Amino acid sequence: APFTPPDLTKCHKATDDDVNPKEVDCCPPDYGKAKMVDFTPPSVNDPLRVRKAAHKYNPDDIAKFEAAIAKMKALPADHPWNYYQQATIHCTYCNGAFDQLNTKNLLQIHESWFFLPWHRYYVYFWEKILGKLIGDDTFAIPFWNWDTPKGMYMPPMYLNEKSPLFDDTRDKRHYTSVIDYKYTYKNSNPTDIDAVVTTNLAELDSIFKETLQLPALFMGKALRAGEKPTPAPGRCESLHNVAHMWAGPPDKPHWNMGNFHTAARDTLFFAHHGNVDRMWDIYSKFRGQKVEFRDPDWLDSSFIFYDENEQLVKCKVRNCLTPESLRYSYNPEPLAWTTIRR
Ligand code: C2O
Repeated sequence: APFTPPDLTKCHKATDDDVNPKEVDCCPPDYGKAKMVDFTPPSVNDPLRVRKAAHKYNPDDIAKFEAAIAKMKALPADHPWNYYQQATIHCTYCNGAFDQLNTKNLLQIHESWFFLPWHRYYVYFWEKILGKLIGDDTFAIPFWNWDTPKGMYMPPMYLNEKSPLFDDTRDKRHYTSVIDYKYTYKNSNPTDIDAVVTTNLAELDSIFKETLQLPALFMGKALRAGEKPTPAPGRCESLHNVAHMWAGPPDKPHWNMGNFHTAARDTLFFAHHGNVDRMWDIYSKFRGQKVEFRDPDWLDSSFIFYDENEQLVKCKVRNCLTPESLRYSYNPEPLAWTTIRR
């Protein structure tokens, strides 16, 4: 059966991802009282929001993005749009604040075929709320273009200490170093940058090539209502984990980017997930937009979010299969890695 939203009145303590798990509170405000409606996808007449690569942001783009984030950070702490509350949603769906409806299995959208659609919605609402806060319905978030040589660095705008985009928990060794897709916490910075870039590109190419006919390998494996989540991530998610690790602190407890329950506190998270989402879009286009899983257990699964009208909405996977259906798109960037013929 498809996943459904949990019983919102039954939020409980979650646990962090440490080796000795500690309890954390990530229950959202008000869920118990709020009324839920079905999500209606935006109208085709709504403006298209075009996401641009973060490393290509000009000063005006940066100023606008910073203004939106600053407003989100300034909201009352218990407002569902508040920056911290928005980050906490990630914890809710990853660290066990809810059980799946009528079972004792925890709600978890990572390491399965829900990873890409859930994050697509999550980032979508975050973007819509930011646009609302600055009164701009064309507002689009940046994506961290880590699949192109010039984008394989932390985008500079996130490194300005005076900016609301800054997060001082990141690995300082990586402020100006190239990302290595084979990074583990013990590694020091590579000296041969060209070699790292080349292996990164080859890795991307092989991920796409080897999964093109087999969506479960790219997206993650099936998880159905009532099943106990067992880790079965797709290669897209596994690659994404590396960037989390690489951006987060090298020392335990690896907050913020390095840990599920705090990851979305770092604004870089959303640029990262912009690109992860873009990878899904590219994958889907390579496949001629053939639906990845023609399975109602996937298509009819649903998640809940607060939308830009402070309304609790129930969102089905089938309504987020393309960015265009949510009225956003990615500014085309050359795919430095692909040898796949389109
Ligand atoms: Cu929900 Cu990048 O993880």
